[in-house]
Amino acid sequence: MSVQELEKIFLSKIDQEIKIEPKDWMPDAYRKTLVRQISQHAHSEIVGMLPEGNWIGRAPSLKRKAILLAKVQDEAGHGLYLYSATETLGTTREQTIIDLHSGKAKYSSIFNYPTLTWADIGAIGWLVDGAAILNQVMLCRTSYGPYARAMVRICKEESFHQRQGFDILMVLSKGTPEQRDMCQDAINRWWWPSLMMFGPHDSESTNSEQSTKWKIKRMSNDELRQKFVDMIAEQVKVLNMTLPDPHLKWNEQTSHYDFGEINWTEFWNVVKGNGPCNKQRLEARRKAWDEGAWVREAASVYAAKRKAREAKKEEKQIA
Ligand SMILES: [Fe+2]
Ligand SMILES: [Fe+2]
Repeated sequence: MSVQELEKIFLSKIDQEIKIEPKDWMPDAYRKTLVRQISQHAHSEIVGMLPEGNWIGRAPSLKRKAILLAKVQDEAGHGLYLYSATETLGTTREQTIIDLHSGKAKYSSIFNYPTLTWADIGAIGWLVDGAAILNQVMLCRTSYGPYARAMVRICKEESFHQRQGFDILMVLSKGTPEQRDMCQDAINRWWWPSLMMFGPHDSESTNSEQSTKWKIKRMSNDELRQKFVDMIAEQVKVLNMTLPDPHLKWNEQTSHYDFGEINWTEFWNVVKGNGPCNKQRLEARRKAWDEGAWVREAASVYAAKRKAREAKKEEKQIA
C-alpha cells in the first residue's frame, strides 16, 4: 500500500472516531507529537509528586497524612500508565527518562513553584489538579487509544484530588485569622501559575492546530482556560476568599468571567528552566534515578532468570 493510501485510511479512522492503536499505521508527525505530549504528561505526574511529597511528613493530622500519601501515590500511578502509553509508540522508557534528566523533555511548569505552607497543598489540589482535570477530561476522547484509556482511569482519581484540596482550604477558611490568611496567601500565589498551565494563547500555540485536526486535542488552550476561570470564580465564593485579579468580572454579554492578562514573561522564564525550583526538581529526579539503579538491575536480572526457567520448562514439555 502506498503512503497516500495508508494516510487516507488513517484520516478516515480519525473522522469516524475510531481510535488509532499502537500497531496501526500513523504519520510520523502524529507519532512524534504523541511521544512528546504523553511523555511530558508522564513527567509532570512524577515531578508533581515532589512539591506535595514535601508535606507528607508535616501534614497536620494522621488523617491528612493518609489522604496526602494516597494522593501522591496516585500521581506515581498516573506517571506509570503514561510511561507505558509512551512505550506503545516505540520509544523506550529509559530514553524518555534520559530526555527528562537532560532537560530536553519538559514537564508542567507549575511544579517549579515551591510549597511554602500547608495551605499550598490545598491550593494545589483545588487549582492545579482542577486545571489538570479539565485538560484530562478532554483527553479521555483523544484519538490515540492507549492515551485515551489511561485518561479514563486517571480522571476518576483526579476528582478525588481536587476535592481533598478544596476540603483542606475549606477547613482553613473557617479557622483562625492566621489560618484564613494562610489560605488566601496560598490562593494568591497559585492562581496565576494555574492559569499558565493551559499554555500560551491559541494564537501563539505552535502545535495546537495540527493536534486539533488529528483530534489529539478537542478544545483550545484559551477555551479550557476560560472554563477553568468560570468554575473557580464561583467556587472561591464558597471559600469566602478572593482571586488575586482586579480584572476578574462577570460579563453578562459573553456569559463568562473576564480576567486579567497572564504575565507571559514569567511563563516563558519558568518554561526555559529559570523558575524558583527547576534545578531542585531535576536534581531530585536524577538522584532518585541513580539511587534506584540497583532496583532496575535486580528486576531485569530476575526477569531474565524467570524467562530462562520458563524456556527450559517448555523445552522439557516438548521433549
Ligand atoms: Fe495525576
Ligand atoms: Fe492529581
